[in-house]
Amino acid sequence: MPARIMNNHKLLRGSGMKQGIIVGASSGIGWELAVQLAAQGYQLGLMARRGDCLDKLATSLPGEHFVQTTDVASAEQSQTELTSLLEKMCDVELIIVNSGVGSKERLLDWDVQRQMIDVNVRGFAAMSLVAMNHFVKRGGGHLVGISSAAAHFSGGLTPTYNASKAFASNYLNGLRSRAVRSKMPITVTTVEPGFVETAMVEGRPMWLAPLDKSVRQMVTAINRKKNHVFITKRWRYVALMLDIMPNALIRKFM
Ligand SMILES: NC(=O)c1ccc[n+]([C@@H]2O[C@H](COP(=O)([O-])OP(=O)(O)OC[C@H]3O[C@@H](n4cnc5c(N)ncnc54)[C@H](OP(=O)(O)O)[C@@H]3O)[C@@H](O)[C@H]2O)c1
Repeated sequence: MPARIMNNHKLLRGSGMKQGIIVGASSGIGWELAVQLAAQGYQLGLMARRGDCLDKLATSLPGEHFVQTTDVASAEQSQTELTSLLEKMCDVELIIVNSGVGSKERLLDWDVQRQMIDVNVRGFAAMSLVAMNHFVKRGGGHLVGISSAAAHFSGGLTPTYNASKAFASNYLNGLRSRAVRSKMPITVTTVEPGFVETAMVEGRPMWLAPLDKSVRQMVTAINRKKNHVFITKRWRYVALMLDIMPNALIRKFM
């Protein structure tokens, strides 16, 4: 489906306005990232499967924005859609890959596992790759990947989700190394949230952080071009502990 331009204001092409794309903008963290970045004056490209939610978001934001539906599980099709959105927008300097799925894996069910691998691994890598190639061509830019503190441990409750996020964090680290070696001004930011209050989280787990506060911390890290950030900051210590804790002990809890 072609990208739509939402809102009634005149499009400010070539005005020096910052442009960014959020993959997975239709709810939760992605939606709030759009709200906070648009408030900073970004013109945004908004991507996800639910076009009606993206339209609603785009019309609620100040300024004029682009909407492009995509299903990152169809990785190659999604790469084509991101590439064509990049061509339609003027000069995108920030791409946030936030799309992700997660659920408790009560049964070891292949349909559930495959969806997580398709979206959180294949889709994540496919979108990040287009972003990096765009920044190399452009001579600089900023890729932000939303991984998870779950990347730091594996447990029986959500083995596929944890492994998919370990892939995301590890992959982003590798892309950052390539960017540094290339000496091009390309920043890669890894975001590892603990629990953030969105539809993805079931119940009220420990240290569930409000959405607006969590996204404010992400936006600060993006503005400061950080390599890595835990959301909220206390998850740094949890991750450190989990990194050194023996599996036999982790198994008692997860
Ligand atoms: N909430 C937390 O506690 C938490 C903690 C750590 C990490 N995270 C990560 O944060 C990210 C955002 O999650 P959230 O909590 O904000 O949950 P959410 O509200 O469910 O948002 C998920 C986003 O990903 C998009 N998405 C899912 N499948 C997609 C697909 N096949 N193609 C394109 N887009 C797709 C969704 O859009 P459509 O459904 O419209 O496609 C939606 O915009 C995820 O990567 C998640 O793993 C969340």
